[in-house]
Amino acid sequence: MATVIDGKQVAASVIEAIKASSDAFKKETGDKIGLAVVIVGEDPASHAYVTSKGKMAKECGFNSIQHTLPEDTTQQDLLSLVATLNNDASIHGILVQLPLPKHFDSDAIIQSILPQKDVDGLHIVNAGKLATGDLETGLISCTPAGSMLLVRRIHGDDLSGLNALVIGRSNLFGKPMAQLLLNANATVTMAHSRSRDLPALARQADILVAAVGRPEMVKADWVKDGATVIDVGINRVPAPEKGEGKNKLVGDVAFAECEPKAGAITPVPGGVGPMTIAMLMANTVITAYRCAGKVAPKF
Ligand code: GUN
Repeated sequence: MATVIDGKQVAASVIEAIKASSDAFKKETGDKIGLAVVIVGEDPASHAYVTSKGKMAKECGFNSIQHTLPEDTTQQDLLSLVATLNNDASIHGILVQLPLPKHFDSDAIIQSILPQKDVDGLHIVNAGKLATGDLETGLISCTPAGSMLLVRRIHGDDLSGLNALVIGRSNLFGKPMAQLLLNANATVTMAHSRSRDLPALARQADILVAAVGRPEMVKADWVKDGATVIDVGINRVPAPEKGEGKNKLVGDVAFAECEPKAGAITPVPGGVGPMTIAMLMANTVITAYRCAGKVAPKF
């Protein structure tokens, strides 16, 4: 039987530390930590995410600002808003919710955020710092940072001698996750839709990270005995057993069959998900401390 990693509980402990840092910042500087979240269009899932980010920011004692822009906002209008936020000293962190409507050049928008305010860790300066092993002065993308925190809770800070497999190669998750594991001395393989014999690669992994967006793709016979399995997938699938037209959330890992083989495993929901928001708050604290010339806390 695996240890089921309780992401909610770990996230709550991170949030407690963030609240303490946020209070200390206010006492020492007289200012609140400021986070601006920008959302364009009507996508209900994105709105739900942004609402939870705003709520959590308030709970952490931040000045939480949300900019909600209509679907037909132009690239230039959004660039202008980012420029205004870049120049606003009361805003320490800026997040533009993705995906943006199709007519935007999303990369140009993300790259226009000042790297020191890029709490998503998506600016090439932050991606480059992570790639070159500078974990001290950059900002790390929230979902990989949260997943890595869970891996550290199981294995400690040094992953020497352990094989890690990351399935998925996105800029938002797969690439930074692989870099974090490598920085911690794991032997890292990255796999993706064009890889040959994924199950065989997975069976080598002491740490198996799945981020592909395919419901329950990872099966029990992919999992090495005692492996740590981190499931980053959030897939909504029909759940007729709950009633007609009902849905449920499942990960990229077939949890029920993999759990008996794993040493530790994250559930969906309640695993990596809650960590993402916690690490966004952590990155916002870090940006504020650095901006004030103070040593940023570590989470
Ligand atoms: N949409 C889904 N996940 C994310 C994220 O981590 N950051 C941003 N900006 N948008 C997202």
